Amino acid sequence: MNCGDRDIRIKRVSGRKRSRDGAQSHMTPARKRGGAGGAGAGGGGADTCPTDRRVTSIMAQPAEFCSDTEDLFGDYDSLLGDSSLLAKLDDAEQDERRRELQLVAVDQQDLAALPPPEDRVHNRSCQDVLTDSILDVLGDEPFEDLPVSQMQFEEQIGEGVKRNKLQDGDNTSTPSRNAGDSGHRRTSEAGTDRHTDDKTRRRSRARRSVTDQLKRTMLCNAAAPSNISRSVGLKEAVVSEEISVAMQAMETVSTETTDLGPFFGLPSKVKDLMYKLRGIKSLYDWQETCLNLDCVQQRKNLIYSLPTSGGKTLVAEILILRELLCRKKDCLFILPYISLVQEKVRGLASFGLELDFMVEEYAGSKGRFPPVKRRNQTSLYISTIEKGHGLVNSLIESGRLDNVGLVVVDELHMLGDGSRGAVIEMTLAKVLYMSNKTQIIGMSATLGNIRDLQMFLKAENYSNDFRPVQLKEYVKLNDTIYEVDPKEEECFRFSRLLNYKYSSSMQKIDPDHIIALVTEVIPTHSCLVFCPTKKNCENVAGMICKYLKEEFLQHRREEKVVLLRELKDSGDGSVCPVLRRTVPYGVAYHHSGLTTEERKLVEEAYSNGVLCLLACTSTLAAGINLPARRVILRSPYVAADFLKRSQYKQMVGRAGRAGIDTVGESILVLQDKDRTMAQTLVCAPMENCRSHLLHDDGKGILSLILSLIGLNITTSMEQVRDFLQGTLLYVQREQLCVERSLWDVVQQCVDVLQEKDLIAVMSHTQTLQVTKLGKATYKGSVDLSCSGVLYQDLSRGLEGLLLNSYLHLLYLVTPYDMVAQCKPDWMIFFRQFTRLSAAEQKMSAAVGVPESFVARKAAGQTVKNNVDLAVARRMYLALVLFSLLRETNLWSVADRFQLSRGFVQTLLSSSSAFCSCVLHFTEELEELWPFKALLTELTRRLSYCVKAELIPLMEVVGVMESRAKQLYNAGYKTLTHLANADPAILSKTIENLYKKQANQIVASAKMLLNEKAAALQEEVDDLLMAPLDLPADLSTEQLL
Ligand SMILES: Nc1ncnc2c1ncn2[C@@H]1O[C@H](COP(=O)(O)OP(=O)(O)OP(=O)(O)O)[C@@H](O)[C@H]1O
Ligand SMILES: [Mg+2]
Repeated sequence: MNCGDRDIRIKRVSGRKRSRDGAQSHMTPARKRGGAGGAGAGGGGADTCPTDRRVTSIMAQPAEFCSDTEDLFGDYDSLLGDSSLLAKLDDAEQDERRRELQLVAVDQQDLAALPPPEDRVHNRSCQDVLTDSILDVLGDEPFEDLPVSQMQFEEQIGEGVKRNKLQDGDNTSTPSRNAGDSGHRRTSEAGTDRHTDDKTRRRSRARRSVTDQLKRTMLCNAAAPSNISRSVGLKEAVVSEEISVAMQAMETVSTETTDLGPFFGLPSKVKDLMYKLRGIKSLYDWQETCLNLDCVQQRKNLIYSLPTSGGKTLVAEILILRELLCRKKDCLFILPYISLVQEKVRGLASFGLELDFMVEEYAGSKGRFPPVKRRNQTSLYISTIEKGHGLVNSLIESGRLDNVGLVVVDELHMLGDGSRGAVIEMTLAKVLYMSNKTQIIGMSATLGNIRDLQMFLKAENYSNDFRPVQLKEYVKLNDTIYEVDPKEEECFRFSRLLNYKYSSSMQKIDPDHIIALVTEVIPTHSCLVFCPTKKNCENVAGMICKYLKEEFLQHRREEKVVLLRELKDSGDGSVCPVLRRTVPYGVAYHHSGLTTEERKLVEEAYSNGVLCLLACTSTLAAGINLPARRVILRSPYVAADFLKRSQYKQMVGRAGRAGIDTVGESILVLQDKDRTMAQTLVCAPMENCRSHLLHDDGKGILSLILSLIGLNITTSMEQVRDFLQGTLLYVQREQLCVERSLWDVVQQCVDVLQEKDLIAVMSHTQTLQVTKLGKATYKGSVDLSCSGVLYQDLSRGLEGLLLNSYLHLLYLVTPYDMVAQCKPDWMIFFRQFTRLSAAEQKMSAAVGVPESFVARKAAGQTVKNNVDLAVARRMYLALVLFSLLRETNLWSVADRFQLSRGFVQTLLSSSSAFCSCVLHFTEELEELWPFKALLTELTRRLSYCVKAELIPLMEVVGVMESRAKQLYNAGYKTLTHLANADPAILSKTIENLYKKQANQIVASAKMLLNEKAAALQEEVDDLLMAPLDLPADLSTEQLL
């Protein structure tokens, strides 16, 4: 096997050797690093944790919280609003004592002799004080209104929760009590000790135990695994032991000791979870080799590159887990699309729950800057490209970047993808410059110039051409199929003639023989047909069904009926007419015109084999794991552009389903005119990935320099230039800045930023400083070209803000970049305008769109007065959003405005993301203070756009509107209901909810609840902590 150009050494050491090595070590890499502080910094052994925890909660620096408004969940659960908190805490402390006594008693009994339910009800009432204040939402007690089916589950987990509480008691015991004792004995001893503790000592522990009580109450439920078994406790002990061994081994990392633990330095529980949750029994050879590379063991930066479906993500995930569990450092995982982020959050939430780390979503309007500081848990931030950049900025600003031990960038070739590529480059350049402790890993299937990227990231490289299923590439010309073979002179080798019998009418309708190609594989096998445009996807799906035999209708008939019903529910009674016609045949289309909910249903049905064919655009090839036996490229174009090699590779790479198919095939349908270009397409090397900092008039480099100055990373021209030497742009400077030197570029950017009033140059020192507007711009990730306009719009808005309707605020957060895509239908505009209230019409006139203008336009008259068309279009989009918020029915709104539902959905999601950007923008500008409160709520409304009661359920990743309705109607009304649900019962109660989905929903709900509870806990800790700068008592001498 090709293992890349590095010498690979694999060494194994036994567990015994590992612990010995660990015992000899005296300094962890994290400690060497120093300065990280807090619980996140360099982990000690497991036995030191309890003491550390206490010290942390008393002595730690005041936490750097975002203001409430930065918290997108800010309206929930704020402890600070509870004025009688301390009194309640005191009461709770009394209850805690009573409970501890009871727990000791219970511990000594057989489980069969648990107190009767009435007693438990009584115990519960003891906690009511606490429950009133915070646990309404987060309480761990059974819910009065929990569905009956769940009560039984509650009873079962009672046992688990009690055990958790006892184990937690352990955590607060002294190290000496912990040492060298079995878990069970420790538990009962801890209980007895608690029982006999004297009152004085108890009082001194009061605050800590109350804090623990709060945390336990809030967390134990959230963290309770869905399937609690009696052996869990034992397993947990094994896990922590293994983690401790691995951590110790980490301390002694050197070239001699490269293999650190039972499962690549991780507890064997991780291996079990990989099997249980993913069905992965063992690693591919290349995955093992890669994980054992010296450079990986030494935490050097790494780029690895393998064909699609090669299993790249798994390697990154194992390295992430190692960082989170063994090095106790946070990790950032950057993925290119919101849907991919959500899929990963769903997939990793169960790992987080089982292995005790946080999984935090940074996508769309979700994610808090800077993230909540977690004292006792590490966090995995899973983010989109843009949110990842914001997160890194906020961590730099709060001096916490060192807490991030690893940054992983999936689909690293996106570096060369327009303005998004520029954002990845800025993010990585900042990490490289600001934290030499943070490891960077990037992976991709389509990297041409790895050397450049290696130089930029100072990274090692590992490449392999492994694919779990062999891929055979073909092209079709007329009725001949050729196999792609780069060794052949013309790249193509004759394979076979296509066997089909077409009538003349069919030949006209399907000249490319798509039907013949697909019916060779469906319905038994799956097939993807990539089409150049969205419309073409729908046409191809429709056309194929027209000629499919009746027997296709019988294949998995019932499941298709269910799918159609779900599609109908998701559209509030409407189903796309194309899907209504094609789904019974097992065929659907897939492109950005589908709503998120439809897309998810279609993807799931395809994964489960209910649908056997998808006609899709290239978006499906970007990272979504939906392989097919056969992939057909209907033409070598995306819209009017000839395919790029990387696009081609991504598409054909979907062929072959690991574990199902023995081979995957791709067929590119060609016309004679495309033959020569297609030869290059299938045989040429991969395109190079180029820096995009200078793309689009240097937008990228301008915003980079602005944020460098704003974050105080660079304060002079020289420093800016130094920084730029660490970019991909610098590596490729000769290809990219031919005419100008880098110095000229910097000079020019500084001039532009000054002109825009975003930075100022101090005349005497030549120091660069960001202005308030500049700071607001980079903090809000607002495009430089529109930050001035945004400021003006918001300031003008304040002069007469309309607050008895959402319209004005919606107008202000309608993204500027969507305006160009909108061509209003003036009749519809006028009709909608006339339905507005007088105040709303007045507001429209005030921003520059008076009724007279819309009326004239609707009547087809020429308009002389100079109304800015962009403003009118923006108002039109605001009206769409306004209707959406009022009705929450995407389909009827799309219909009313004659827009595609996909466009309306994109408008909604872009607006919610922009709304959160505007919120951050206004937070930096005092004069815009009123927007802070208003936009926090608006972001939330836009993010979900459903009835308020469904929002808490939809916060859980993977729960869409129709599912939320089902859950709500079945009695699962809050996040806590979901977190406490039994997945088995859930999937039985909720129609068409597969067990796997139910598991993921419950795991995600637990994770989210966990996250909220931990955030509250941080607030409690902060609230109860004595300030470090408390004025000390003056000594008598000083007084004299
Ligand atoms: N060792 C393994 N054994 C079995 N299945 C595996 C293994 N490693 C990964 N897989 C599975 O293979 C599939 C493809 O893996 P993955 O998505 O990581 O590929 P990838 O290389 O990232 O592909 P792409 O370039 O398309 O993103 C996934 O379903 C994954 O669970
Ligand atoms: Mg991948």
